[in-house]
Amino acid sequence: MGKFVIENNGALQGNVKISGSKNAVLPIIAATLLTDEKCEINDVPALTDVMIMQEIIEDLGGTTSWLQDETLNIEATNINKIQVSYELCTKMRASFLVAGPLLARMGEVKISLPGGCAIGSRPVDLHLKGLAALGAEISQEHGYIHARAKKLTGANIYLDFPSVGATENIMMAAVMAEGQTIIQNCAVEPEIVDLSNFLTSMGSVIRGSGTDTIRITGVEKLHGTNHTIIPDRIEAGTFMIASAITKGNLFLENVVIDHLKPAIAKLREAGVEIEEGEAGMRVKGASERQPIDIKTLPYPGFPTDMQAQFLSMLAVTPGTNLVTETVFENRFMHVPELIRMGADIKIDSRSAVIEGVEQLTGTQVKASDLRAGAALMLAALSANGTTEIHDIYHIDRGYYHFDKKLRNLGAKITRVD
Ligand code: UD1
Repeated sequence: MGKFVIENNGALQGNVKISGSKNAVLPIIAATLLTDEKCEINDVPALTDVMIMQEIIEDLGGTTSWLQDETLNIEATNINKIQVSYELCTKMRASFLVAGPLLARMGEVKISLPGGCAIGSRPVDLHLKGLAALGAEISQEHGYIHARAKKLTGANIYLDFPSVGATENIMMAAVMAEGQTIIQNCAVEPEIVDLSNFLTSMGSVIRGSGTDTIRITGVEKLHGTNHTIIPDRIEAGTFMIASAITKGNLFLENVVIDHLKPAIAKLREAGVEIEEGEAGMRVKGASERQPIDIKTLPYPGFPTDMQAQFLSMLAVTPGTNLVTETVFENRFMHVPELIRMGADIKIDSRSAVIEGVEQLTGTQVKASDLRAGAALMLAALSANGTTEIHDIYHIDRGYYHFDKKLRNLGAKITRVD
């Protein structure tokens, strides 16, 4: 399964280049199913999750190839299947994102209920409600969702919650539906805007992405394109905490500062110094931090994907800190591991009360999901002694060359396979 052995090596220093966004590239790879022409995608991080999406495209009959390290070519010319591999679906929740485009392209899709991070039940009812509104007949057979539509027709769809994945799936089905689709109370995350830009560059007609109402006018055919993925705001936020928690001095390149507003605001409130510039952002850890309160919310609120990493920093921020998770129902799996490292944290339903301690102590811990794994890496960088983090395949799902990037900044990390 692999582990990281991390020794505290003091303050991190230097420059780090942020990779392309995992959560932007996954729906964009799914969207390549909408055309039989070639799509070239740049700044693609070769993460395990990206490779699973690549395998799904290949399993359906498409071809994929890496041009350089971070450029992925996809040709979904001969799609010859409507059933998505059970094995691949259960490895990653985002595999469900091929449902919308496959339905639009083939008129039918069979896909099993998704797997992925163990952070709550994560249903797909909103995805299905949207596809049904566009005219799909949906049934559940032997653990598979079966959606069929001779023709998709534009519709008015109101999402009960601004789900990122549901918004993306519905957008990808609606771009080739007949007539106009309006998605209200949709997600406004930067990854939605990136997908919208990709779809528009393929010939889609989309207005309002990045606001809570998206209007799409369906077209008959989409064409190939070339697109560069936005920087990963969660990876950037994770390195910001790496600087804060080690009282370091890091310069982050390839960031969109606007996407990082909630993390910047909360770090400044805690006393961390942040300089915003044209070429990137400098983050200097303060010698003493103030306690803060955090509540996760859909964008532009504080991202749930940054909650675990912030919690590690708050575990060593003296005073009483409060973290409330409102997006997912079971997202404190990192807390028992942080407690094993000496943190003083009490969970009450969806809130964690953190009494910051001076320093954590290294021990053996386990990553339970992607961001929980990142949080343990951050805690280990400033803990006293050596920390072993097990089940690091979770971390490899979402952080490109994480250990290598941290080593370049002075961290002492060994990967043991
Ligand atoms: C995406 C991100 C994930 C991030 C999350 C919230 C990707 C690949 N993953 O996940 O990293 O943590 O957004 O920012 O982009 N829900 C329903 N019914 C549905 C769909 C969702 O009840 O049909 C609920 C979920 O259980 C969860 C909440 O809505 O409680 C948010 O989920 P959603 O926004 O859909 O997240 P994902 O797209 O799965």
